[in-house]
Amino acid sequence: MQERENFQSRLGFILAAAGSAIGLGNLYQFPFKAGQGGGASFLILYLIFTVVICFPILLSEIAIGRKTQSNPAKAYSNLGFPKWNIVGLMGVICGALIFSFYILVAGWVLKFLVESIQGNLVYGKESFFTLIADPYETMLYASIFMLITAFFVSRGIKEGIEKIAKYVLPGIFIILIILIIYALTLPNAFEGIKFYLIPDFSLLLDMNTIQAALSQSFFSLSLGMGALITYGSYVSKKENILRASIWITLSDVTVAVLAGFLIFPLVFSQGIDPKSGGGLLFITMSEIFSSMGGLSAVILSTMFFLLLSLAALTTTISFLEVSVAYSIEKYDLNRKKAAYIVAAIILIIAIPSAMSHMKSGIFNSGFITYFNTEISVSFMDFIEDIASDFYLPLGGMLIVFFTSRVWKLVNFKEELTIKNKFDEKIVTLALFSLRYLILPVLLLLIILTVLNHFFGINLIN
Ligand code: PHE
Repeated sequence: MQERENFQSRLGFILAAAGSAIGLGNLYQFPFKAGQGGGASFLILYLIFTVVICFPILLSEIAIGRKTQSNPAKAYSNLGFPKWNIVGLMGVICGALIFSFYILVAGWVLKFLVESIQGNLVYGKESFFTLIADPYETMLYASIFMLITAFFVSRGIKEGIEKIAKYVLPGIFIILIILIIYALTLPNAFEGIKFYLIPDFSLLLDMNTIQAALSQSFFSLSLGMGALITYGSYVSKKENILRASIWITLSDVTVAVLAGFLIFPLVFSQGIDPKSGGGLLFITMSEIFSSMGGLSAVILSTMFFLLLSLAALTTTISFLEVSVAYSIEKYDLNRKKAAYIVAAIILIIAIPSAMSHMKSGIFNSGFITYFNTEISVSFMDFIEDIASDFYLPLGGMLIVFFTSRVWKLVNFKEELTIKNKFDEKIVTLALFSLRYLILPVLLLLIILTVLNHFFGINLIN
């Protein structure tokens, strides 16, 4: 058995966990989901879900990890409930599945960075669809990204994960702020801000918007699959995890909200429809940079894709660490071996997703048709629907059930340090949510989502 490392400092832990949370979810997915959800109405729902539902779950995950000092698939038995290990194991598996498509998107980002550095601003406009339809090139860039990820994970908690987060996180904030300041000076930027901040109340009760805001909040905080159980397991007993959790949540939300202040002014300044979502962000951004032209556009576009790459890197590191921590403890492997072996396995799992945008083949948009609906999706979208949109909230619900009904809230509360009135209030709110609110709300939303998404039955509107 190998010695378990700890994070060196509380700040190191906060930065590493915030690094996991802050990723393509914030910078890439948040703005376009907000665009589709009517800007401000999405933002409001997202903030409510984050405070009331997701923050208490984040706290539970970190508390379980810190208390048990073990990977998610063993954590529950360390607390005396071995049957629950299955929940941990499911999280590890779902995490690996999500990772398998996330790494492909990270690879595309890297490709865009390389093109931007070379001054090729029209790349995205002209070649985005060619790139994603080409499994070889997609796998090539994903593999490079994976290699970098595995390098840091192989170096361990202090020397790898904590160190890189310490450099990258401040970098992310700085680049983001510079880009926002620039974006705000563009013509029509204010229209973008208005769209982002003035709510369309009719969308607040729209089932699709609600579901999108909830799954966004889960995904963005890296919840539901045990990533934070894993990171929490490297936190020493003397650290204050309540304060750390508040900081992690705040920084994640801040980056997501700031991303809106960057993307919407840019999008409106070029007269692009804010609802053009998905992979289109790549194209939209390329259109913006190429229509600006000149050296400043090259610098901006390089900064933008560097920002995305760095944010993706600290996230892919956390994905890999979950499976690596599991493999090290389960198979008694050394860290270095585990990092590269798991990385290779994930890349193999990613191959069908990499083939999901080909013109022909079995994995593309005709891969599966959901019952009773016209919706037919590719392998990659299918994995995303199942592992991310469906499983993360379910995993979160199981974790809440465990904390509140099995492990019990008194024991959970013992893991938290309460220093003043403010802490007291936060803990009271979190405990209330864990006891009464989260389970029914999540159960209802999961049922509605499954009916709506997979069966085409819409009970609300
Ligand atoms: N939070 C990450 C992001 O926003 C994604 C993630 C989800 C990471 C689940 C780990 C677990 O990009």
